[in-house]
Amino acid sequence: MDKPAYRKISKYWKGKIYQEWRRMPERLEMLAQNSHYFKGKNVLEFGCNAGLFCFEIMNHAKSYVGVEKNPVYYAQALVTKKHIKNERVEFLRMTAKEYMKNPRKIDAFFSAYLLYHLDDEEISMLRETVFPKCEVAMSFIRGKGDKELKHNKYRLWIPENVKKLMDVFPTVEIVGTNPYLVIGRK
Ligand SMILES: C[S@@+](CC[C@H](N)C(=O)[O-])C[C@H]1O[C@@H](n2cnc3c(N)ncnc32)[C@H](O)[C@@H]1O
Repeated sequence: MDKPAYRKISKYWKGKIYQEWRRMPERLEMLAQNSHYFKGKNVLEFGCNAGLFCFEIMNHAKSYVGVEKNPVYYAQALVTKKHIKNERVEFLRMTAKEYMKNPRKIDAFFSAYLLYHLDDEEISMLRETVFPKCEVAMSFIRGKGDKELKHNKYRLWIPENVKKLMDVFPTVEIVGTNPYLVIGRK
């Protein structure tokens, strides 16, 4: 892959992004093909981890806020912030629930391998406080065939949780097979 965002990331992440479960090269490629939906938008990402997707998102978006609850991952996101050198990129150390109690002006939502971490209250808050403000919502999810999912207790969100979320967006497009990139638009 020879995408500008990928080059910037691999420069300082030195191959760690190749971890099998992360599938970063594939996911960045999928995102690059669809990130134009974020053009001119203020994008919110929950569970941003080291914040690597912001390189691609900021090729189009007006601003980006990444929310991450884990202090170690948040510290990694601050390294990303240093490298991206863009004042319109910000990382917040807090939970999704904390953010949703006082949400900022946003018009697009992104998450990756995150929605199955949220409890029912957080899913309802997402539906009621974040999604009404968003013109587009995009999320990576891992499919049923994934080895990791067979061995853990994560709830798959497509049949339950996220179907409830998807109907907020009249146009829903599902790209790829595993991982999937689910794109909802109004
Ligand atoms: C499976 S990892 C995915 C990381 C990254 N988005 C990716 O796809 O490579 C889930 C991430 O979400 C964070 N997370 C989980 N629950 C969260 C919550 N309620 N609020 C904020 N971050 C959360 C975790 O700390 C972790 O960084």
